[in-house]
Amino acid sequence: MEIVLSGIRSTGKLHLGNYYGALLNFVQMQHEHKCFFFIADYHSLTTHPTPTDLHGSVKQVLAEYLACGLDPEIATLYVQSDLPQVPELYLLLNMNAYVGELERCTSFKEKIRKHPDNINAGLLTYPTLMAADILIHKATMVPVGKDQEQHLEMTRTFANRFNRLYKVDYFPEPVAYNFGKELVKIPGLDGSGKMGKSEGNAIYLYDDPKTIRSKVMKAVTDSGPTQPNQEKSEPVKNLFTLMRVVSDPETYSYFEEQYSSCHIRYGDMKKQLAEDIIRITTPIRERIEEILANDAYLSQVAHHGAEKARESASKTINEVRQIIGFRNF
Ligand code: TRP
Repeated sequence: MEIVLSGIRSTGKLHLGNYYGALLNFVQMQHEHKCFFFIADYHSLTTHPTPTDLHGSVKQVLAEYLACGLDPEIATLYVQSDLPQVPELYLLLNMNAYVGELERCTSFKEKIRKHPDNINAGLLTYPTLMAADILIHKATMVPVGKDQEQHLEMTRTFANRFNRLYKVDYFPEPVAYNFGKELVKIPGLDGSGKMGKSEGNAIYLYDDPKTIRSKVMKAVTDSGPTQPNQEKSEPVKNLFTLMRVVSDPETYSYFEEQYSSCHIRYGDMKKQLAEDIIRITTPIRERIEEILANDAYLSQVAHHGAEKARESASKTINEVRQIIGFRNF
């Protein structure tokens, strides 16, 4: 059994891409491995030092993950800032992280380009904080997207360096976990690329039916096929990909057939697609609302998660302190 750990950004609601790309796999994984899922609220301060509603965002994210099926009794679900052991390990790891390697990190370079007025030390040491998140539970598998692979590589560097410097074989090397090639990539509604928050082309699980209908009806298409079995354009392919994921196979085949015979009316297809998305998101949205209205439950989940996580984290930090040479008087 692996120790799986995933950090969840505390900003932003879940969209269909997150749901089919990661969430459903997390729900599955919690039964197969020892899983830690946490909300990375410290990390959000690196770019947003004065958040408008930090607690509200964390609450929303927690409610959404619970609504999707993460089970706080099976997995360990917690908030990063509830573990004082994380900043402690971050401090210790920073002593062995070199400014040069941190400055070379792609995400750092990108962020200083985007926020030239706020190049803070937290941003520079974002990878050490992420390494602390991972190493604090000695996680061996980290499900991450392409954009996080370099951070994971740096975590391995820090783990190995720690082992070498202190002549121990203590931290395992965490590896990236990809959910296999067969994974469907959920495209956006703007005709190209995948669904993403920053792309502004996403359907959120929390969107109400009216919003979903309006987003889907505005999706980019083309002027329609002019000859039988014509190759589909990218935007139309994307609509079919979404439909394959959310609709019945019969519905999908019906529109495939309409396309091949040049009878397709994209308006009809979009109406159907919107209703099928609504069918999937409605129970999740209702569940999110139910959870958000139940502060007692949310606080119980957060406390329980923090307690479980602290148990594993304090064991690690105590051992790390011993290894480095700290002794209690
Ligand atoms: N950096 C990750 C992201 O932007 C979030 C994150 C923070 C994370 N700590 C982590 C992911 C530890 C995996 C493991 O998505």
